[in-house]
Amino acid sequence: MESEASKDELVGDAGTSQQSLWLNFYEYAWKQRKDLIKKFLDEFGGDVFKAIEKLKRFEGTHELKNVIGYVKKEATIHDYPTSAPHFSKSVYREGFYYKPFYAHPNDFILDFCDQNPVDAIVELGAGYSQNLVEIYSKGGPQGIPYMGGEITESGRQLSADLAAKYQGMDLRSFYFDHKSPKFPAELGLNKFNRIFLFTCHSIEQVQRISPEYFKTLAELSPNLVACHFEPFGWQIEEEGVPYGVVSKTQEDFFRGRNWNENFAEALYAAQDLGYIEITYLKKNVMSIDLGNPTSIAIWKPKLNRRAEV
Ligand SMILES: C[S@@+](CC[C@H](N)C(=O)[O-])C[C@H]1O[C@@H](n2cnc3c(N)ncnc32)[C@H](O)[C@@H]1O
Repeated sequence: MESEASKDELVGDAGTSQQSLWLNFYEYAWKQRKDLIKKFLDEFGGDVFKAIEKLKRFEGTHELKNVIGYVKKEATIHDYPTSAPHFSKSVYREGFYYKPFYAHPNDFILDFCDQNPVDAIVELGAGYSQNLVEIYSKGGPQGIPYMGGEITESGRQLSADLAAKYQGMDLRSFYFDHKSPKFPAELGLNKFNRIFLFTCHSIEQVQRISPEYFKTLAELSPNLVACHFEPFGWQIEEEGVPYGVVSKTQEDFFRGRNWNENFAEALYAAQDLGYIEITYLKKNVMSIDLGNPTSIAIWKPKLNRRAEV
């Protein structure tokens, strides 16, 4: 291929030249992308940013080959439930290093929801719902409600202000306290089936939670998927990643602030009590808060009951 290409040299002014192969590739590539962008524009009612973000995610799982078109990438490592690896190799000056494949939980959620249709997204401890706005804006599920539960009035108020300005996004904010979890009836959560519920560095601030916390969430819907992006790495040992200097630093930090000390214990207890089934658990895989790495726990309900909400 290369020797053929080298025969086909394009010559410009004053000693400049390039191989036609790569120019031809891009001529082909942009045309292919145009077809996909058109499809995504239709999907997102003409929203250019969402279409481009969707194309980026699509190209995470598909490779564009010259003349052949898009071919699904054979994932060699299926670490995450989305089939993505935990880490990808990158370069820095003269060396290599491994960086988290998903820089932020929102990137994981976007891929997850592309692959698993959901009919409502709920974040607990959502602040002003910044994660929800980003997920929706980058082309997360459209036409479904996004609900941010938050304890602070200022967070809920700002979320409501943004919701009023954001045409098209169904963003709802509600009072929620991890210490005494309840869902207001007016949210109408019992109308939804495949609820994607998550927390992100929020339970971290509650010193102790109980296994019943998970039971209350599990009762929302038998088909709920719950995902916690929380810094509980120091509370667990994982094969190949035992308690080390990072866990020690995190534990000291948490104990110094009286932050959460029993997330993992309560989660395992909820499983032992038959409330939930943990489907995925990984220590220290993201680093959205430098020095305070994020671990991930995903579970599904084992109860068949639905809460009266
Ligand atoms: C570090 S911020 C993270 C906000 C958001 N989840 C994000 O990832 O950008 C922690 C949030 O948890 C909220 N929070 C703290 N204690 C809470 C509680 N008991 N119940 C609900 N939310 C709580 C805080 O008010 C704050 O909005």
